[in-house]
This record gives sequence, structure tokens and C-alpha cells, in this order.
Amino acid sequence: MASLYDFPDIYDERFSERANTVYREHYQKIFSGCEITDILDCSFGTGDLTFELCELGYQVSGSDLSRTMLAKAEQKAEQQGFSVDLTCCDFRELSQHFCRDFSCVMSTGNALAHVDHPGLVKTLHEMDSLVRPGGYLYLDSRNWDVVMKKRDRFLFASPFIRADGVRVNYVQLWDYHSDGSITIHILNAYESEGRVFRQEVFEEHLMPFSIDLVQSVLKELGYQDVVIKPLPYFQDQDFEDIGWYCLRARKPL
Ligand SMILES: C[S@@+](CC[C@H](N)C(=O)[O-])C[C@H]1O[C@@H](n2cnc3c(N)ncnc32)[C@H](O)[C@@H]1O
Repeated sequence: MASLYDFPDIYDERFSERANTVYREHYQKIFSGCEITDILDCSFGTGDLTFELCELGYQVSGSDLSRTMLAKAEQKAEQQGFSVDLTCCDFRELSQHFCRDFSCVMSTGNALAHVDHPGLVKTLHEMDSLVRPGGYLYLDSRNWDVVMKKRDRFLFASPFIRADGVRVNYVQLWDYHSDGSITIHILNAYESEGRVFRQEVFEEHLMPFSIDLVQSVLKELGYQDVVIKPLPYFQDQDFEDIGWYCLRARKPL
């Protein structure tokens, strides 16, 4: 079954100028008061959640497992006049691909659930190995603790109308497996004049993880000032009420 990451144009369809503004404001708020100059996003994708950091004046680098997603990111960077170093690599092996450190290493877009729990622990260690003392580790994730409690099976996003007038309908069906993993079946249905004329089906396999696992690894690595907020961060919420969270933590000097 096809992966959405092999079709970056379709992946990008749902992102909008409005989303850029929201993410820009989110990063301004979450990194306010943090001494950050250079950032590596190790799940850069096509850059939807990261390019706004260029707008904010950070020196941004990116890596991702998917060459296809990075190729689209490169195109977008060129179009928007951003200078971003992009590297194709698995975030479980970051230290083999970078021989420098950063004041912030991040993983955006719920990417960490693409690996199993030992892979997640390894990734956090690898991210840490590239964070400068006094720097920050940042990640965002779906709130898997809530997902595993509710075990919802269907996710519908509001349809949107593309610039060419085509209405794009988007549905996910989630299968929960006995090993704790989830297969997400994704359907994009393209509609014109009340008729669906094209369908695209994708599948992603994810391994939910508890925030306790992330926090225990960060504690073991000595991280301090752990802040957990909704993404986007407009106002504080109880963790149980957050659908998607971000976590920022500071590495001691
Ligand atoms: C949902 S996308 C998020 C992309 C981007 N950050 C965004 O928010 O639009 C998840 C990304 O994680 C990447 N990914 C999955 N497994 C990975 C791994 N082991 N190492 C590095 N990147 C990985 C995928 O290629 C994909 O680009």
C-alpha cells in the first residue's frame, strides 16, 4: 500500500497560509526567552511545520528519511528564498550524519511514532547527542495517551476547496493491533460538481507511545525545565484535553 510520504504534493494539499501564521505564532510563544539560533528538525518532511522558523530568523537545517519529501522541501525552500541544509537520514542514526551541534534539535509532525519504542528511545538519545549544552530538545506529537484510552476508529477532517475548485474530502480509518501499533488507512476523495472523480488511498503504520516514556528518557539524560503545551499553543490546557502536544526541554550547561 502506498505511503503518503511518496506523494508530497498530496501531503501538502491540506496546508495553508493560515496554518503558517498559526505555526509562526506557536513557535514565537514556545521559544520565547530561549536562547536559540540554529535548529535541526530531524523529521523535516516537506517543511510545513518548519519553514516558519526560517521566517522568524533562525538558521534552520533539516533531515528526513524520505528523499521524496526532502526533494519537495528543497523546491519550496528555493521558491521562498530560504537557505536550509537538508540531509536524508534516519533519525535513529543522526550522529552518523552530523558532525556539529545545534542550539535546538526538534522532531516535528508526529514523526516519532513511526518507530518502535526502542527506536524512539534511541532517537531521543541521538537528538540529544546533537544538542549543545544549554540548548533545547523539542518535539510534537499526537497525544497517544488519550488516543489509546479512547480508541476512536474514524477521523474526518473538514473538506476543503482547492484553488481549481475541486473539493478534497479526507477520511482516516484506524486499526488497533494487539502489539499496540496502529495502521491508519487514509482516503483522499476528489470531488467536482458533486461527483468523486479520483480517489487516493494510503496507509501509515504507527507505534503509539506514552508521554511518560519520553519524560523518563529526558530525565535520564538530565534535561530540565520540561514544558508541555498544546500544539498550536494558544492557551494552557490539561494534558488529557490536548489532542496534539509539543514538548520543550533544556539540556543542562
Ligand atoms: C507526518 S510527517 C511530518 C513531516 C513534517 N515535519 C510536517 O510536519 O509536515 C512525518 C515525517 O517523518 C518522516 N520519518 C518517518 N520515519 C522516520 C525516520 N525513522 N527517520 C527520519 N524521518 C522519518 C517521514 O518521512 C515524514 O516526512
